[in-house]
Amino acid sequence: MARPGHPAWLLFTAAIALFAAGATAQDCLSATFQGGRTFLKCNALPVLGASLHWTYHAENGTADVAFRATSGTNEWVAWGINTDGTGMGGSSVFIASQDASTGVASVLTTVLEGTNPTLTKQAPKFAVPVAPTAEYSGGAYTIYVTVTLPGNATQQNTVWQHGPFTGGAVAPHTPSGANILSVQRLDFLSGQSSGGSNSRLHRRNLHGILNAVGWGILIPLGAMIARYLRVFESADPAWFYLHIACQISGYALGVAGWALGLKLGSESKGLTYKPHRNIGIAIFCLATLQVFALLLRPDKKNKYRVYWNAYHHSVGYSVIVLAAVNIFKGLNILKPASRWKTSYIAIIATLAGVALCLEAITWAIVLRRRKRAKSYGAAANGTNGTGLQL
Ligand SMILES: *[C@@H]1O[C@H](CO)[C@@H](O)[C@H](O)[C@H]1NC(C)=O
Ligand SMILES: *[C@@H]1O[C@H](CO)[C@@H](O)[C@H](O)[C@H]1NC(C)=O
Repeated sequence: MARPGHPAWLLFTAAIALFAAGATAQDCLSATFQGGRTFLKCNALPVLGASLHWTYHAENGTADVAFRATSGTNEWVAWGINTDGTGMGGSSVFIASQDASTGVASVLTTVLEGTNPTLTKQAPKFAVPVAPTAEYSGGAYTIYVTVTLPGNATQQNTVWQHGPFTGGAVAPHTPSGANILSVQRLDFLSGQSSGGSNSRLHRRNLHGILNAVGWGILIPLGAMIARYLRVFESADPAWFYLHIACQISGYALGVAGWALGLKLGSESKGLTYKPHRNIGIAIFCLATLQVFALLLRPDKKNKYRVYWNAYHHSVGYSVIVLAAVNIFKGLNILKPASRWKTSYIAIIATLAGVALCLEAITWAIVLRRRKRAKSYGAAANGTNGTGLQL
Protein backbone atom coordinates (compact mmCIF):
# COMPACT_ATOMS: atom_id res chain seq x y z
CA MET A 1 0.00 0.00 0.00
CA ALA A 2 1.45 3.38 -0.99
CA ARG A 3 1.84 5.81 1.87
CA PRO A 4 1.30 9.57 1.61
CA GLY A 5 4.50 11.05 0.16
CA HIS A 6 5.20 7.93 -1.91
CA PRO A 7 5.55 8.79 -5.64
CA ALA A 8 2.75 6.39 -6.59
CA TRP A 9 0.47 8.06 -4.09
CA LEU A 10 1.37 11.54 -5.39
CA LEU A 11 0.67 10.45 -8.99
CA PHE A 12 -2.64 8.99 -7.91
CA THR A 13 -3.64 12.21 -6.12
CA ALA A 14 -2.53 14.31 -9.11
CA ALA A 15 -4.63 12.12 -11.42
CA ILE A 16 -7.69 12.53 -9.17
CA ALA A 17 -7.15 16.30 -9.02
CA LEU A 18 -6.84 16.53 -12.83
CA PHE A 19 -9.91 14.39 -13.27
CA ALA A 20 -11.86 16.55 -10.81
CA ALA A 21 -10.72 19.78 -12.53
CA GLY A 22 -11.63 18.31 -15.92
CA ALA A 23 -15.02 17.23 -14.60
CA THR A 24 -15.85 20.72 -13.26
CA ALA A 25 -14.71 22.37 -16.50
CA GLN A 26 -16.91 19.89 -18.35
CA ASP A 27 -19.87 20.67 -16.03
CA CYS A 28 -19.21 24.31 -16.63
CA LEU A 29 -19.20 24.05 -20.44
CA SER A 30 -22.12 21.63 -20.69
CA ALA A 31 -24.40 23.77 -18.51
CA THR A 32 -27.68 24.71 -20.18
CA PHE A 33 -29.83 27.74 -19.50
CA GLN A 34 -33.48 28.71 -19.71
CA GLY A 35 -34.74 30.33 -22.89
CA GLY A 36 -31.89 28.86 -24.94
CA ARG A 37 -29.42 31.36 -23.52
CA THR A 38 -25.76 30.62 -24.21
CA PHE A 39 -22.55 32.14 -22.87
CA LEU A 40 -19.12 32.15 -24.47
CA LYS A 41 -17.00 31.75 -21.34
CA CYS A 42 -17.31 30.02 -18.03
CA ASN A 43 -15.34 29.47 -14.83
CA ALA A 44 -16.03 26.95 -12.10
CA LEU A 45 -15.61 29.05 -8.95
CA PRO A 46 -13.35 27.53 -6.29
CA VAL A 47 -15.83 27.52 -3.38
CA LEU A 48 -19.55 27.26 -2.56
CA GLY A 49 -20.42 25.00 -5.52
CA ALA A 50 -20.77 27.91 -7.91
CA SER A 51 -19.91 28.72 -11.51
CA LEU A 52 -19.89 31.89 -13.55
CA HIS A 53 -20.88 32.01 -17.24
CA TRP A 54 -20.61 35.14 -19.32
CA THR A 55 -20.30 36.79 -22.71
CA TYR A 56 -18.28 40.00 -22.88
CA HIS A 57 -19.08 42.64 -25.51
CA ALA A 58 -16.05 44.87 -26.03
CA GLU A 59 -17.90 47.29 -28.31
CA ASN A 60 -20.14 48.60 -25.49
CA GLY A 61 -18.23 47.32 -22.43
CA THR A 62 -21.04 45.09 -21.18
CA ALA A 63 -21.13 41.48 -20.00
CA ASP A 64 -24.13 39.16 -20.00
CA VAL A 65 -23.64 37.06 -16.88
CA ALA A 66 -25.18 33.91 -15.47
CA PHE A 67 -24.16 32.98 -11.93
CA ARG A 68 -25.16 29.47 -10.91
CA ALA A 69 -24.82 28.04 -7.40
CA THR A 70 -26.17 24.88 -5.76
CA SER A 71 -28.49 25.74 -2.91
CA GLY A 72 -31.43 24.54 -0.84
CA THR A 73 -34.85 26.14 -1.39
CA ASN A 74 -34.70 27.99 1.94
CA GLU A 75 -31.35 29.59 1.14
CA TRP A 76 -30.13 32.58 -0.83
CA VAL A 77 -27.19 32.98 -3.18
CA ALA A 78 -25.60 36.18 -4.45
CA TRP A 79 -23.08 37.45 -6.95
CA GLY A 80 -21.69 40.94 -7.37
CA ILE A 81 -18.88 43.30 -8.27
CA ASN A 82 -16.98 45.39 -5.75
CA THR A 83 -16.14 48.81 -7.17
CA ASP A 84 -14.47 49.99 -3.93
CA GLY A 85 -11.93 47.25 -3.26
CA THR A 86 -11.95 43.55 -2.47
CA GLY A 87 -14.30 41.63 -0.23
CA MET A 88 -17.86 42.25 0.81
CA GLY A 89 -17.99 45.92 1.88
CA GLY A 90 -18.86 48.26 -1.01
CA SER A 91 -20.01 45.50 -3.35
CA SER A 92 -23.02 45.94 -5.60
CA VAL A 93 -24.74 42.56 -5.43
CA PHE A 94 -27.62 40.57 -6.88
CA ILE A 95 -29.24 38.30 -4.29
CA ALA A 96 -31.52 35.46 -5.40
CA SER A 97 -34.04 33.83 -3.09
CA GLN A 98 -37.49 32.32 -3.45
CA ASP A 99 -40.93 32.76 -2.01
CA ALA A 100 -41.50 29.88 0.44
CA SER A 101 -45.09 29.21 -0.72
CA THR A 102 -44.94 29.82 -4.47
CA GLY A 103 -41.33 28.83 -5.10
CA VAL A 104 -40.93 31.82 -7.42
CA ALA A 105 -37.33 33.05 -7.48
CA SER A 106 -36.58 36.76 -7.43
CA VAL A 107 -33.54 39.03 -7.31
CA LEU A 108 -32.79 41.82 -4.87
CA THR A 109 -30.22 44.36 -6.08
CA THR A 110 -28.40 46.26 -3.38
CA VAL A 111 -25.11 47.82 -2.33
CA LEU A 112 -23.47 46.34 0.78
CA GLU A 113 -22.43 49.09 3.17
CA GLY A 114 -20.28 47.93 6.07
CA THR A 115 -20.34 44.71 8.01
CA ASN A 116 -24.04 44.42 8.77
CA PRO A 117 -25.79 45.96 5.77
CA THR A 118 -29.49 46.69 5.64
CA LEU A 119 -30.73 44.85 2.62
CA THR A 120 -33.04 47.29 0.90
CA LYS A 121 -33.34 47.69 -2.85
CA GLN A 122 -30.60 50.02 -3.99
CA ALA A 123 -29.21 50.95 -7.38
CA PRO A 124 -25.82 49.30 -8.06
CA LYS A 125 -22.73 51.46 -8.56
CA PHE A 126 -22.65 50.63 -12.28
CA ALA A 127 -25.25 50.51 -15.03
CA VAL A 128 -27.38 47.41 -15.41
CA PRO A 129 -28.94 47.75 -18.91
CA VAL A 130 -30.99 44.52 -18.60
CA ALA A 131 -32.85 43.93 -15.31
CA PRO A 132 -31.64 40.86 -13.41
CA THR A 133 -33.77 37.71 -13.14
CA ALA A 134 -33.33 34.41 -11.32
CA GLU A 135 -34.51 30.83 -11.63
CA TYR A 136 -34.32 27.88 -9.27
CA SER A 137 -34.17 24.40 -10.72
CA GLY A 138 -32.33 21.14 -10.10
CA GLY A 139 -31.16 22.28 -6.66
CA ALA A 140 -29.41 25.40 -7.97
CA TYR A 141 -30.15 29.06 -8.45
CA THR A 142 -29.14 30.89 -11.60
CA ILE A 143 -28.97 34.68 -11.60
CA TYR A 144 -29.02 36.35 -15.04
CA VAL A 145 -27.80 39.91 -15.24
CA THR A 146 -26.24 42.21 -17.82
CA VAL A 147 -23.74 44.62 -16.35
CA THR A 148 -21.83 47.56 -17.81
CA LEU A 149 -18.37 46.83 -16.44
CA PRO A 150 -17.41 49.73 -14.14
CA GLY A 151 -14.81 52.05 -15.68
CA ASN A 152 -15.10 50.02 -18.93
CA ALA A 153 -12.39 47.82 -17.39
CA THR A 154 -12.36 44.11 -18.16
CA GLN A 155 -10.80 43.23 -14.78
CA GLN A 156 -13.19 43.41 -11.84
CA ASN A 157 -13.25 42.33 -8.20
CA THR A 158 -16.08 39.84 -7.99
CA VAL A 159 -17.76 38.32 -4.93
CA TRP A 160 -20.30 35.57 -4.39
CA GLN A 161 -22.07 34.16 -1.37
CA HIS A 162 -24.54 31.66 0.02
CA GLY A 163 -26.63 31.81 3.21
CA PRO A 164 -29.94 30.96 4.90
CA PHE A 165 -33.25 32.55 3.91
CA THR A 166 -35.51 32.54 6.96
CA GLY A 167 -38.90 34.13 7.61
CA GLY A 168 -38.89 35.69 4.15
CA ALA A 169 -35.64 37.51 4.78
CA VAL A 170 -31.97 37.16 3.88
CA ALA A 171 -30.16 35.99 7.04
CA PRO A 172 -26.41 36.46 7.54
CA HIS A 173 -24.09 33.87 5.99
CA THR A 174 -21.57 31.82 7.97
CA PRO A 175 -18.67 34.20 8.70
CA SER A 176 -15.98 31.52 8.30
CA GLY A 177 -14.56 28.70 6.17
CA ALA A 178 -15.47 28.71 2.45
CA ASN A 179 -17.84 31.67 2.95
CA ILE A 180 -14.92 34.04 3.49
CA LEU A 181 -12.96 32.77 0.49
CA SER A 182 -15.52 33.67 -2.15
CA VAL A 183 -13.77 36.61 -3.79
CA GLN A 184 -11.90 36.73 -7.07
CA ARG A 185 -10.44 39.29 -9.43
CA LEU A 186 -11.77 38.26 -12.82
CA ASP A 187 -10.76 39.35 -16.29
CA PHE A 188 -13.99 39.21 -18.32
CA LEU A 189 -11.97 39.30 -21.57
CA SER A 190 -9.51 36.47 -20.96
CA GLY A 191 -11.36 34.53 -18.25
CA GLN A 192 -8.25 34.59 -16.03
CA SER A 193 -8.87 34.97 -12.34
CA SER A 194 -6.43 35.90 -9.60
CA GLY A 195 -5.95 37.19 -6.07
CA GLY A 196 -8.83 35.02 -5.08
CA SER A 197 -9.45 32.40 -2.54
CA ASN A 198 -6.26 30.44 -3.09
CA SER A 199 -3.68 33.07 -2.24
CA ARG A 200 -5.96 34.32 0.54
CA LEU A 201 -6.35 30.82 1.93
CA HIS A 202 -2.59 30.23 1.78
CA ARG A 203 -1.90 33.43 3.69
CA ARG A 204 -4.55 32.58 6.27
CA ASN A 205 -3.03 29.14 6.75
CA LEU A 206 0.44 30.66 7.07
CA HIS A 207 -0.91 33.09 9.67
CA GLY A 208 -2.40 30.16 11.59
CA ILE A 209 0.75 28.05 11.49
CA LEU A 210 3.11 30.89 12.49
CA ASN A 211 0.93 31.81 15.46
CA ALA A 212 0.26 28.25 16.57
CA VAL A 213 3.98 27.39 16.50
CA GLY A 214 5.15 30.72 17.95
CA TRP A 215 2.64 31.58 20.66
CA GLY A 216 1.06 28.17 20.99
CA ILE A 217 4.06 25.85 21.22
CA LEU A 218 7.45 27.60 21.59
CA ILE A 219 6.38 30.11 24.28
CA PRO A 220 4.76 27.49 26.60
CA LEU A 221 7.76 25.21 25.99
CA GLY A 222 10.10 28.04 27.00
CA ALA A 223 8.06 28.65 30.15
CA MET A 224 8.25 24.96 31.03
CA ILE A 225 12.01 24.96 30.55
CA ALA A 226 12.35 27.90 32.94
CA ARG A 227 10.10 26.37 35.56
CA TYR A 228 11.25 22.78 35.58
CA LEU A 229 14.89 22.75 34.49
CA ARG A 230 15.87 25.32 37.07
CA VAL A 231 15.45 22.90 39.95
CA PHE A 232 18.44 20.97 38.74
CA GLU A 233 21.58 22.78 39.84
CA SER A 234 23.54 21.24 36.97
CA ALA A 235 21.15 22.85 34.47
CA ASP A 236 22.16 26.33 35.57
CA PRO A 237 22.66 28.53 33.52
CA ALA A 238 21.75 26.33 30.53
CA TRP A 239 18.03 26.54 31.34
CA PHE A 240 18.22 30.31 31.11
CA TYR A 241 19.69 30.30 27.60
CA LEU A 242 17.25 27.62 26.44
CA HIS A 243 14.39 29.65 27.90
CA ILE A 244 15.56 32.82 26.14
CA ALA A 245 16.11 30.96 22.84
CA CYS A 246 12.58 29.49 22.94
CA GLN A 247 10.92 32.77 23.88
CA ILE A 248 12.82 34.83 21.31
CA SER A 249 12.09 32.44 18.44
CA GLY A 250 8.47 32.06 19.60
CA TYR A 251 8.14 35.84 19.76
CA ALA A 252 9.70 36.30 16.30
CA LEU A 253 7.39 33.73 14.64
CA GLY A 254 4.42 35.02 16.63
CA VAL A 255 4.99 38.64 15.63
CA ALA A 256 5.33 37.63 11.96
CA GLY A 257 2.05 35.71 12.21
CA TRP A 258 0.44 38.59 14.08
CA ALA A 259 1.46 41.14 11.43
CA LEU A 260 0.11 38.88 8.68
CA GLY A 261 -3.13 38.61 10.69
CA LEU A 262 -3.46 42.40 10.87
CA LYS A 263 -2.86 42.61 7.11
CA LEU A 264 -5.53 39.96 6.45
CA GLY A 265 -7.86 41.84 8.80
CA SER A 266 -7.34 45.16 7.02
CA GLU A 267 -8.11 43.50 3.67
CA SER A 268 -11.33 42.02 4.96
CA LYS A 269 -13.27 45.26 5.26
CA GLY A 270 -16.72 43.77 5.28
CA LEU A 271 -16.01 41.23 7.97
CA THR A 272 -14.00 41.71 11.14
CA TYR A 273 -13.37 39.18 13.89
CA LYS A 274 -13.24 41.63 16.77
CA PRO A 275 -12.54 39.26 19.70
CA HIS A 276 -9.87 37.35 17.72
CA ARG A 277 -8.27 40.60 16.62
CA ASN A 278 -8.36 42.22 20.08
CA ILE A 279 -6.98 39.17 21.86
CA GLY A 280 -4.23 39.06 19.22
CA ILE A 281 -3.32 42.68 19.88
CA ALA A 282 -3.34 42.06 23.66
CA ILE A 283 -1.00 39.08 23.25
CA PHE A 284 1.39 41.15 21.16
CA CYS A 285 1.41 44.01 23.71
CA LEU A 286 1.94 41.73 26.71
CA ALA A 287 4.70 39.77 24.97
CA THR A 288 6.45 42.95 23.86
CA LEU A 289 6.24 44.26 27.42
CA GLN A 290 7.86 41.01 28.51
CA VAL A 291 10.79 41.57 26.13
CA PHE A 292 11.37 45.12 27.40
CA ALA A 293 10.96 44.08 31.03
CA LEU A 294 14.13 41.99 30.61
CA LEU A 295 16.05 45.25 30.37
CA LEU A 296 14.65 46.39 33.73
CA ARG A 297 15.27 43.09 35.52
CA PRO A 298 16.74 43.83 38.97
CA ASP A 299 19.72 41.84 40.20
CA LYS A 300 19.05 38.50 41.96
CA LYS A 301 19.90 40.03 45.34
CA ASN A 302 17.82 43.17 44.84
CA LYS A 303 14.76 43.28 47.10
CA TYR A 304 12.51 44.25 44.15
CA ARG A 305 13.47 41.09 42.27
CA VAL A 306 10.60 39.19 43.89
CA TYR A 307 8.09 41.73 42.51
CA TRP A 308 9.71 41.59 39.11
CA ASN A 309 9.43 37.79 39.18
CA ALA A 310 5.75 37.93 40.13
CA TYR A 311 5.14 40.39 37.28
CA HIS A 312 7.18 38.35 34.78
CA HIS A 313 5.32 35.14 35.63
CA SER A 314 1.81 36.60 35.62
CA VAL A 315 2.30 38.36 32.26
CA GLY A 316 3.96 35.24 30.82
CA TYR A 317 1.16 32.91 31.91
CA SER A 318 -1.46 35.38 30.64
CA VAL A 319 0.17 35.33 27.20
CA ILE A 320 0.09 31.52 27.18
CA VAL A 321 -3.59 31.30 28.17
CA LEU A 322 -4.69 34.09 25.79
CA ALA A 323 -2.72 32.47 22.96
CA ALA A 324 -4.43 29.11 23.46
CA VAL A 325 -7.86 30.80 23.52
CA ASN A 326 -7.07 32.78 20.37
CA ILE A 327 -5.70 29.80 18.47
CA PHE A 328 -9.02 28.01 19.03
CA LYS A 329 -10.89 31.13 17.91
CA GLY A 330 -8.72 31.22 14.80
CA LEU A 331 -9.32 27.53 14.10
CA ASN A 332 -13.07 28.20 14.27
CA ILE A 333 -12.76 31.03 11.74
CA LEU A 334 -10.48 29.22 9.31
CA LYS A 335 -12.21 25.83 9.72
CA PRO A 336 -9.26 23.84 8.34
CA ALA A 337 -9.40 20.05 7.86
CA SER A 338 -10.15 18.61 11.30
CA ARG A 339 -6.70 17.03 11.57
CA TRP A 340 -5.20 20.48 12.19
CA LYS A 341 -7.37 21.09 15.21
CA THR A 342 -6.74 17.54 16.42
CA SER A 343 -2.98 17.96 16.01
CA TYR A 344 -3.00 21.22 17.94
CA ILE A 345 -5.09 19.71 20.73
CA ALA A 346 -2.71 16.71 20.86
CA ILE A 347 0.32 19.01 21.11
CA ILE A 348 -1.03 21.20 23.90
CA ALA A 349 -2.42 18.17 25.75
CA THR A 350 1.05 16.59 25.61
CA LEU A 351 2.69 19.80 26.83
CA ALA A 352 0.12 20.05 29.66
CA GLY A 353 0.61 16.38 30.58
CA VAL A 354 4.39 16.73 30.66
CA ALA A 355 4.05 19.94 32.69
CA LEU A 356 1.83 18.15 35.20
CA CYS A 357 4.34 15.29 35.67
CA LEU A 358 7.25 17.71 35.97
CA GLU A 359 5.26 19.80 38.45
CA ALA A 360 4.85 16.74 40.67
CA ILE A 361 8.52 15.79 40.35
CA THR A 362 9.60 19.36 41.07
CA TRP A 363 7.50 19.56 44.20
CA ALA A 364 8.85 16.21 45.40
CA ILE A 365 12.43 17.46 44.89
CA VAL A 366 11.72 20.81 46.54
CA LEU A 367 10.02 19.26 49.57
CA ARG A 368 12.83 16.75 50.02
CA ARG A 369 15.40 19.54 49.86
CA ARG A 370 13.51 21.59 52.41
CA LYS A 371 13.29 18.62 54.75
CA ARG A 372 16.98 17.95 54.36
CA ALA A 373 17.80 21.63 54.88
CA LYS A 374 15.72 21.63 58.05
CA SER A 375 17.31 18.49 59.44
CA TYR A 376 20.73 20.04 58.84
CA GLY A 377 19.47 23.09 60.68
CA ALA A 378 19.94 25.36 57.71
CA ALA A 379 17.31 27.89 56.72
CA ALA A 380 15.30 26.74 53.74
CA ASN A 381 15.37 29.47 51.18
CA GLY A 382 12.31 29.26 48.93
CA THR A 383 13.57 31.41 46.09
CA ASN A 384 17.10 30.26 45.60
CA GLY A 385 18.29 26.65 46.11
CA THR A 386 14.83 25.14 45.54
CA GLY A 387 14.28 27.21 42.45
CA LEU A 388 10.48 27.00 42.57
CA GLN A 389 8.62 30.23 42.35
CA LEU A 390 4.97 31.15 41.99
C1 LIG B 1 -23.87 45.58 -26.39
O1 LIG B 1 -23.41 44.96 -27.58
C2 LIG B 1 -23.96 43.67 -27.84
C3 LIG B 1 -23.29 43.11 -29.07
O2 LIG B 1 -23.29 44.01 -30.10
C4 LIG B 1 -25.47 43.77 -28.00
O3 LIG B 1 -26.01 42.48 -28.24
C5 LIG B 1 -26.05 44.35 -26.74
O4 LIG B 1 -27.43 44.54 -26.87
C6 LIG B 1 -25.38 45.68 -26.41
N1 LIG B 1 -25.83 46.09 -25.13
C7 LIG B 1 -26.25 47.30 -24.85
C8 LIG B 1 -26.72 47.57 -23.48
O5 LIG B 1 -26.23 48.18 -25.67
C1 LIG C 1 -14.82 50.29 -23.83
O1 LIG C 1 -13.54 49.97 -24.26
C2 LIG C 1 -13.48 49.41 -25.56
C3 LIG C 1 -12.05 49.04 -25.85
O2 LIG C 1 -11.53 48.22 -24.88
C4 LIG C 1 -14.01 50.39 -26.57
O3 LIG C 1 -14.00 49.80 -27.86
C5 LIG C 1 -15.41 50.80 -26.18
O4 LIG C 1 -15.90 51.79 -27.06
C6 LIG C 1 -15.48 51.30 -24.76
N1 LIG C 1 -16.85 51.46 -24.40
C7 LIG C 1 -17.28 52.52 -23.71
C8 LIG C 1 -18.74 52.53 -23.38
O5 LIG C 1 -16.55 53.43 -23.38
